[in-house]
Amino acid sequence: MPILEIRHPLIRHKIGLMRRADISTKNFRELSQEIASLLTYEATKDLMLENEVIEGWAGPVSVERIAGKKITIVPILRAGIGMLEGVLNLIPSAKVSVLGLERNEETLQARSYLEKLAPDIHARLALIIDPMLATGNSLVAAIDLLKQAGCKEIRVMVLVAAPEGIQHLQAHHPDVMIYTASIDECLNEKGYIIPGLGDAGDKIFGTI
Ligand code: URA
Repeated sequence: MPILEIRHPLIRHKIGLMRRADISTKNFRELSQEIASLLTYEATKDLMLENEVIEGWAGPVSVERIAGKKITIVPILRAGIGMLEGVLNLIPSAKVSVLGLERNEETLQARSYLEKLAPDIHARLALIIDPMLATGNSLVAAIDLLKQAGCKEIRVMVLVAAPEGIQHLQAHHPDVMIYTASIDECLNEKGYIIPGLGDAGDKIFGTI
């Protein structure tokens, strides 16, 4: 499946603001949530609708509602929490399934330390959120885990993606659609995205 870089002017503007070296924690947090909302709008564009007749102010009226699968949002700890509110703003009744993954800074491999999934996750569309798609190791591990739990449809939303990570993810999970605010240039030798945003978790939590 392809990757979609959402080149909406609001997203271009906001991601530009996030790249400033002197950005405050408050602004970084707010922009993460705002871009997450805009990505959610795009990532849910093709959800199926069904008709329903309800009692309106002037009598029965036919309206539409989202049909089929319900949604679970899957933030990857800790940085994924920085996008959660933005997604919930648009999908307030979604269940949240939390995955704790940490990467070994030497091997860059991901290890799971927490899995708190919605019990009916197999029947839900999973929307994974993580600000940075760098090596792709965490996302591959997260998708492996969700598929083992029975998830059949998974989408990923990230703020910034590196070409190396996109390739890695697509090689392992070609069925998973990726939505991003920006495809950046490359990874540096420490696994950081260039130009990127720096350490998104530290910036969201103010632990720099
Ligand atoms: N994680 C981050 O927070 N930033 C990067 O550039 C890569 C991984």
